[in-house]
Amino acid sequence: MLFRQLFDSDTSTYTYLLADEETREAVIIDPVYEQLERDASLIGELELRLVAVLDTHVHADHVTAQGLLRQRFGAKSIMSERSGAVCADQLVKHGDHIAFGRHALEVRETPGHTNGCLTYVCHEPRMAFTGDALLIRGCGRTDFQGGDSSALFQSVRERVLTLPDDTLIYPAHDYKGRTVSSVGEEKRHNPRLGLARSLQEFTQLMTALKLPHPRKMDVSVPANLVCGLPAEKVQPGWTDVDWAPVTASAASVPEVDPRWVAANGPRVTLLDVREPDEFHGPLGHIPGAELVPLAALATGAGSLPRERPIVTICRSGGRSGKAALELASLGFIRVASLRGGMREWTEQRLPVEYGRPPQRQDRQG
Ligand SMILES: [Fe+2]
Repeated sequence: MLFRQLFDSDTSTYTYLLADEETREAVIIDPVYEQLERDASLIGELELRLVAVLDTHVHADHVTAQGLLRQRFGAKSIMSERSGAVCADQLVKHGDHIAFGRHALEVRETPGHTNGCLTYVCHEPRMAFTGDALLIRGCGRTDFQGGDSSALFQSVRERVLTLPDDTLIYPAHDYKGRTVSSVGEEKRHNPRLGLARSLQEFTQLMTALKLPHPRKMDVSVPANLVCGLPAEKVQPGWTDVDWAPVTASAASVPEVDPRWVAANGPRVTLLDVREPDEFHGPLGHIPGAELVPLAALATGAGSLPRERPIVTICRSGGRSGKAALELASLGFIRVASLRGGMREWTEQRLPVEYGRPPQRQDRQG
C-alpha cells in the first residue's frame, strides 16, 4: 500500500494519503484547506485516482479541504452520521467499510472529543487513524463540541487500545514533532488513557484542564459543517436557513435580527446562554427565554427539542455565537444567534422581562 503522512505546520495537523499501488485508487484523511495545492499536486504526481475524502471529525482548529478536493477530483466526501455535517456525500457509522482498490478502512465510532469522532482502522498493514480521540501520549479535549470525557475513555479503551499492540497510531495532530506511535506504546505510556489510568482519574484530569477555545474555532466549525467550502458558498448554506432570514456574521456565525425574533419568538426555542445573575440583572431577558449558561450547554443540549429552531442569546452576541456553533456541531440544523444580543434588544425597546426564569424542569415536569 502506498502511504504518505503530510503536515500543516500552522495548525500542527496531519493529513494522510493512502492508495492501492495497483489500482491507483486513493483516499485522503483530514486534508487542510490551505494545503489544497500541495495535496492535489502529490495526488497528480503519484498518478492516483482519489475516490474518497475522509474527515475524522468536525475540526475546530482548521478548515477542511474536503469540499475543494471533492470538486477537484470528483471524490466522495465522507463524515460520521453523528457529525452534523450535512454536506458529506456519505455519512458513515460504526462497522462500515470504505474501500480503495484492494484495501479498506474500517469505521469505528470513537465519540468523546466530539460526538461524531471516527477512527479509521486499516487491518493490513495495521494502522489506526485516530483523529483527536487518541493523540501520541495524549488525547483531544472534551470540553466543547459535545465532548464527554467518560465517552472518550470508553471509546479509546474499547475501540482503539483493543487493537493488536503493533497497530500503528496516526493521530490528527502532534505538537511536539512526533509522527507515529503504536497501540502497545500508548497502552503503556499514554499519561491520560494508558492502562494505568482509571476512568475517575481521567475525568478529573480532563475537567481540570480549562483550555482556551481554539483561535480558528469561529471560522472552522461552521465552515467544516459544510465541508470547508469557501465562505461565499457557505452563506446561506447553513444547513437549513428557510426558517428565518439567517445571515452570516464576519466570523460565519449564523445570526437573526432582533425584530424578526420579537415577531416570531413563540415559534422558536429562545436559549439564553448568559449566567443566572445576568439573566436576572439590569438587562433582563426575553419573555419565554430559557436559561442554559454556555458552560452547561454541552450537557443541557440533550434535552432541547430538535424539531424547533433555536435562537441563542447573550449580552452582545459573542457567547451566543459560540453557542450557535456548538449546537450546530451537535447536529442542530436550525440554529442562529440573536444579532447584537440583549444590548441591541433593549436599545430597540423590544419586550423584556425581569425576575425568575422558567426552568427547563418546570416545563418538562
Ligand atoms: Fe478536534
